[in-house]
Amino acid sequence: MPTARSIRIFDTTLRDGEQSPGASMNLTEKMEVAQALVQLGVDVIEAGFPIASPGDFESVREIAKAVRGAVVCGLARCNDADIDRAWEALRHAEAARIHVFLATSAIHREFKLRMTEDEIVARAVAGVKRARAACGDVEFSPEDAARTEIDFLCRVVEAVIDAGATTVNIPDTVGYATPLQMHHVIKSLKDRVRGIDRAVISVHCHDDLGLAVANSLAAVEAGAGQVECTINGIGERAGNCSLEEVVMALRTRSDHYGCDTRIVSQRLVPTSRLVANITGIQVPRNKAIVGRNAFAHEAGIHQDGMLKERRTYEIMRPEDVGLERTDLVLGKHSGRAALADRAKALGYQLTAEQLQSLFERFKVLADRKKEIYDGDIAALCESEFSQLPEQFTFDRYVLSSASGATPTVELHVLQSGTPAAVTVTAGDGPIDGIFLAIEKLTGITTVCRDFRVQAVTVGKDAQAEVTVELEHAGQVQRGRGVSTDSLEASAKAFLAAINRLALGTTPRLHPQA
Ligand code: KIV
Ligand code: ZN
Repeated sequence: MPTARSIRIFDTTLRDGEQSPGASMNLTEKMEVAQALVQLGVDVIEAGFPIASPGDFESVREIAKAVRGAVVCGLARCNDADIDRAWEALRHAEAARIHVFLATSAIHREFKLRMTEDEIVARAVAGVKRARAACGDVEFSPEDAARTEIDFLCRVVEAVIDAGATTVNIPDTVGYATPLQMHHVIKSLKDRVRGIDRAVISVHCHDDLGLAVANSLAAVEAGAGQVECTINGIGERAGNCSLEEVVMALRTRSDHYGCDTRIVSQRLVPTSRLVANITGIQVPRNKAIVGRNAFAHEAGIHQDGMLKERRTYEIMRPEDVGLERTDLVLGKHSGRAALADRAKALGYQLTAEQLQSLFERFKVLADRKKEIYDGDIAALCESEFSQLPEQFTFDRYVLSSASGATPTVELHVLQSGTPAAVTVTAGDGPIDGIFLAIEKLTGITTVCRDFRVQAVTVGKDAQAEVTVELEHAGQVQRGRGVSTDSLEASAKAFLAAINRLALGTTPRLHPQA
């Protein structure tokens, strides 16, 4: 049997993924994601865009210092200041890569850059040479490559390889390509560019038409050796190619692609949960591989088939992506060891102190809810171990309300550990009343851009998971709260977003050359 071609996985959750509106992460959170990506087995971690803000610089530098076993990459436009700043952030890495980019399509040349083809080639070559003078591993991206005339794309790619680029990435920046077209672009580069074998061809697809994974796979079939992707497919606009989908497609259909990756697939679900929790961007239930329904069989015919032979309706095993098949796990009488065991199986490594705290919260939950499912334990772990410092912590509410009447809400929180309370009679329902009380107490007025409630598991006593997206002074932040009481979950979610707003974020520069 021929050996599978190894495809490098370049994860850009911390750079392109972080460009999703409201997905910004602080240093501690980025570090946690970076370590999870190492455990997942990605080859390259794009940790940020160092010149974008002091915060971005610091996170790339800290991740570069801490990460072992993966290349750490920083993004730079094709100019000296960006490249020097990227290298300053990366230079302590065990293995570093500078990623320089410059747009090449006619529309970007004419309207954004106002540069001729010759000027683009000269700038790209100069950028790659400067990066190579600092770092032996340099990636070049002709931004909007998928809309670039193929002759000019071949010319740019050949010039940057001659200048020392070790990886040439082909982005479909606006998600416009189709699979056959992407295949054609990669094949043309392989056939026409002199010296193409001296560089790894990479692909970076956006999902505006829902084709990012299909386009990336087509590029692999045409000979690309690296795929750029993000956890849960988050990223600019409709997002990027989803890491879990492209990896499992390559693995499940290795008969077709003849390729594999170094990804430890059992870490996919825990990493997906971590990123969803940190960014507040929840995974749709029907999302392939990591969605809650990805392995749920509802139809009687399917269930019958599954009982007779799993492979009748399942092409992957849930345990291979880190989902345990067992559903009903613990209850009121379960002990600490059983809880630790389940948390570990779900991918949470707990310290003794964390386990103690989790156990206390588990007991409170078990008093409210008879059956504790994996989803409940994951939700407890995620809310328990959020690394974000909290200025306001929910304590309790007292509510008086009736249909058609204005509610009265008495809200109690801890403000930096000190009890604080407020009473309001306002709002067009209990949730609105609670939100108004929080705004009054914290002094932060917001526009609520999104509010969603869903059940964590099944049953009438299931925990509610609420996510909100709030806007305040030009900043958008998300928050998440979980409780058996949906009003309490709403208050926690609203406060989590307020805490992020209160921390404030430095305005960032998004990568546009
Ligand atoms: O989508 C894009 O073109 C990018 C580049 C910076 C690689 O993200
Ligand atoms: Zn991108």
